[in-house]
Amino acid sequence: MIAVSRSLGRVLPEDARLIHDPFGERFATPFLRFVANNATWLLPVIESTLATVQVRTRLIDEALISFLEQGGSQVLLLGAGYDARAARFAERLGDARVFEIDHPATQADKRARLPDPASVHYLPWDFERSPVAELPAALAALGHEPTRPTLTIWEGVTMYLSEPAVDTTARAIAALSAPGSRFVFTYVERGALERPGFVYRLVAKLVSFVGEPLRFGFEPSELPSWTASRGFTLEHDVSFHDAAELLLPARLAAQVERRMRVAFATRAQ
Ligand SMILES: C[S@@+](CC[C@H](N)C(=O)[O-])C[C@H]1O[C@@H](n2cnc3c(N)ncnc32)[C@H](O)[C@@H]1O
Repeated sequence: MIAVSRSLGRVLPEDARLIHDPFGERFATPFLRFVANNATWLLPVIESTLATVQVRTRLIDEALISFLEQGGSQVLLLGAGYDARAARFAERLGDARVFEIDHPATQADKRARLPDPASVHYLPWDFERSPVAELPAALAALGHEPTRPTLTIWEGVTMYLSEPAVDTTARAIAALSAPGSRFVFTYVERGALERPGFVYRLVAKLVSFVGEPLRFGFEPSELPSWTASRGFTLEHDVSFHDAAELLLPARLAAQVERRMRVAFATRAQ
């Protein structure tokens, strides 16, 4: 749904199109293909989701561009899913290496639908079952160099994992992140899971139905110490809604998710 929503930004007004993703619709199920084919008249129903996805993707795209502009050459997509960044940014990535880590089932399905971009190295991984301490070595075997900075993108994943899986995965990322590395991740505010309003009850039911229940959230005030104790300095942490107010026309910004956030951290020296 997220991948298709990225592509469907094309039906938003021009001043609300923050990203370009011509690949997302390849991952549509029959129902989502129907939505995509009828997106113009369904717009009143789907525009808040489309606007939220535009903002989330744009913020992380900017982090990727800035990392590459500063000479970064290793990008890790943790729980890559149907993220088509390696294809979307093929030219800018140049010789940089992209490592896509994801659940084996999702990764296999993605590769069946999108030709492998030249920069990508794939690593099938189950964050709940695979011994995460082995992640740095598994990546090194694919050519990852732990002495050079890495940008790790963990987009739309933490909320589906258990607390121990989030914790051990973040520690493994620190272990493979040289000074100068960056860590970008999205999360749900814990309060949205503990005291869900109507929208969250609906989202929780929907994602549960497709087999990925919402399980984990952070309390934003605790995030600086959480990242610090895992080797990262939190630089910026913003709700999608607050970011939208700077990026989108007011009518659409008002519809963007308030209790989902994106955090930007750098590897502590
Ligand atoms: C909502 S998708 C987000 C995908 C992508 N990052 C994006 O933003 O489009 C969640 C991703 O988390 C992955 N995931 C969930 N649980 C996982 C697990 N236990 N191990 C590995 N990946 C998992 C799924 O395979 C899926 O790709």
